Amino acid sequence: MDNFQFYSPTEFVFGKGTENEAGRYVRKHGGTNVLLHFGGGSAVKSGLLGRVKSSLEAAGIAYTELGGVKPNPRDTLVYEGIRLCREKKIDFILAVGGGSVIDSAKAVAMGVPYEGDFWDFYSGKDPEAALPVGTVLTIAAAGSEGSGDSVITKEEGGLKRGAGSDLIRPRFSILNPELTCTLPPYQTACGATDIMAHVFERYFTNTTEVEVTDRLCEAVLLTMIKETPRVITDPSNYQARANIMWAGMVAHNNIVGVGREQDWNSHGIEHELSALYDCAHGAGLAVIMPAWMEFVYKHDVMRFAQAAVRIWGCPMDFSDPENTAREGIMCFRHFLRSIGMPLDFGELGAKEEDIPALVEKFGIGDGRTGGFVKLSAEDIAAIYRIAAAPELI
Ligand code: NZQ
Ligand code: ZN
Repeated sequence: MDNFQFYSPTEFVFGKGTENEAGRYVRKHGGTNVLLHFGGGSAVKSGLLGRVKSSLEAAGIAYTELGGVKPNPRDTLVYEGIRLCREKKIDFILAVGGGSVIDSAKAVAMGVPYEGDFWDFYSGKDPEAALPVGTVLTIAAAGSEGSGDSVITKEEGGLKRGAGSDLIRPRFSILNPELTCTLPPYQTACGATDIMAHVFERYFTNTTEVEVTDRLCEAVLLTMIKETPRVITDPSNYQARANIMWAGMVAHNNIVGVGREQDWNSHGIEHELSALYDCAHGAGLAVIMPAWMEFVYKHDVMRFAQAAVRIWGCPMDFSDPENTAREGIMCFRHFLRSIGMPLDFGELGAKEEDIPALVEKFGIGDGRTGGFVKLSAEDIAAIYRIAAAPELI
């Protein structure tokens, strides 16, 4: 196990009706004048936004609304949010929505106290200050409610890039699983895929002797395998929704990733797909992550065989563990298929002829990415080609 520092300062408020406490938590965390940030309408339609506003009013907190965050959130609305916060002297941002809304809120939070262009933080610069952010989560997926990350797409040129800082970890996150019952099955499945991908990015590591985090990863994955089909067939199953919602947080605040080298190449490779085709991040991962597995499993057959046995319940083929490793990857694809996810470029709406452009935008030139297996530009092209025509299916 490697040395590590683990920092997860967010106050999590979990359970039924907790959104009605939003105002109280804003006040507790120092907010008096809030930017209420939300998405394309689901929170308005469900009545959630109204309940959050009532709780702010009951707590005597002023607010300014900024809706319209799109999935794969754009820089253009972030600029608008920064302008609004400065004009209204906002001191706290409350995100009501999914990862896209929360990431947009985090971008605004970093941009307000900064004199330069907020995009600098998505090009490698570390922020020195940020407004505090709180969240009311409506979809279990990105894990942004507990992470120090934000992913934004630059409208001009379609660049999708991430920023990371402990300064943007939410001060509090309200997690009411009931709010996720209105999700269409496809969005639920996209979220589940993303949650599983966050664990796999950490599970496939070159660090040895990380039993505790291996076992935590396996627990989250086994939970997702059990609970996801339950909410696909019964969207209002509260207990299954609750387990998935907490799994989404646990999968990405890094508790399951400490003490080990992590990969994250599948995320980088996927982000180019959601930037180009504006597809859901989870759907892109369903196509890319098994393709990445297919490309790299020979790097450490025994780790893939372990995943197959412990996560997918495959029997161990002691005479040829490669068979077991391959079977695990096929089980992952079967699971994704069973919850309605796309498995290849065609099903996602991606085009094979775009592969050179995707690789170029990924932008490593002649360099190599880090992680479990170091990838060259040619390797990344090979992974996209597998995603276009998978073998282990
Ligand atoms: O905009 P509305 O109308 O709310 O609709 C949303 C959106 O269309 C809808 N939705 C959300 N909650 C709902 C609901 N519909 C009905 N009922 C509800 N309760 O679902 C759609 C997707 O929402 P979105 O916020 O985009 O989903 P998600 O949470 O998956 O976020 C995806 C974004 O997060 C980034 C992704 O790249 C993508 O841009 N990520 C952020 C990370 C982070 N900050 O740590 C890590 C992730 O790996 C990921 O990259
Ligand atoms: Zn993700």
